[in-house]
Amino acid sequence: MSNFNEPMGRIDAIVIETSMLTTDIKDIRLAAADGAMLPPANPGAHIDLWLPDGNVRQYSVIERAADGSAYRIAVLREASSRGGSAYVVDRLCVGERIHVSGPRNNFALNENHDETVLIAGGIGITPILPMAMRLAKAGRRFSFNYLGRGRQRTALLDVIDASALKDIARIHFSDEHGEADLRGLIGAPRPGAHVYVCGPGRLIDGVLEAASDWPRDTIHFERFTAPAPVTTPSEPASFEIELARSGKVITVKADQSIMQALRQECVRIDSVCREGICGTCAVPLLAGEAEHRDVVQTDTEKNQNTVIYVCVSRARSARLVLDL
Ligand code: FES
Repeated sequence: MSNFNEPMGRIDAIVIETSMLTTDIKDIRLAAADGAMLPPANPGAHIDLWLPDGNVRQYSVIERAADGSAYRIAVLREASSRGGSAYVVDRLCVGERIHVSGPRNNFALNENHDETVLIAGGIGITPILPMAMRLAKAGRRFSFNYLGRGRQRTALLDVIDASALKDIARIHFSDEHGEADLRGLIGAPRPGAHVYVCGPGRLIDGVLEAASDWPRDTIHFERFTAPAPVTTPSEPASFEIELARSGKVITVKADQSIMQALRQECVRIDSVCREGICGTCAVPLLAGEAEHRDVVQTDTEKNQNTVIYVCVSRARSARLVLDL
């Protein structure tokens, strides 16, 4: 986990190339406005785009140019866009300056599994494609499954066709082939095998269901939106947070988040999604038991109770001690 609320450096970037990959997916290349080399981005990493309309959105880095001069991202215009993806797809043009921060990786690929099953649904191809490229290059054992609604609506098929993935990719179009058999893609649990899935929430939920007999920590996923809660969170109650570096104690009221309570005391925490999805607001947790409400951490990480995402998570104990 790369970010513990150290303020992230923002890069003054410029859009150097755009094209439409499908009617609603835009391909964008960004470079540093001063021509500097961009930080490395491992498969699964995303960058934040600080849009001129005031929105901040996160997009997976498909590729960083070999010379470090540019990032490639692809953005789907969401039907329910609140402005972010609509702005990027409809209005972001070559030559436009934009602030970028990151890369950060909440969906990092471990290349050393005995076997890896990759599943991308729709725009979820953006983090999965670099993973497949990396595993192919490293000669690892993996499968690469790409589920799209139809050939014309599925992005980056040309990139796959022109790469070593051409003979490995299993591409499934629902309008030609019907609903995908997720259990068939995953198979039975087997030692050393891990699954990485990215796409719409219903695909991730479907994979989690199809893999219900797999050890939970072998299924890795990245969501674009917060899932509906499956359990009713405990009744909101107030609790205390202690800032270990100063000893200051702050009360978090029942109707406010830890982040809001911190901001009232002028402790700034970087945030982007404020829904427990993006991983920006991670803070090390030194003592106390958190009620983790984020979807960034695995169940094992939540049980370790060493990091808290302060935009959504709360406390089960009377006090939490934060490394702030
Ligand atoms: S701001 Fe995104 S996880 Fe908290």
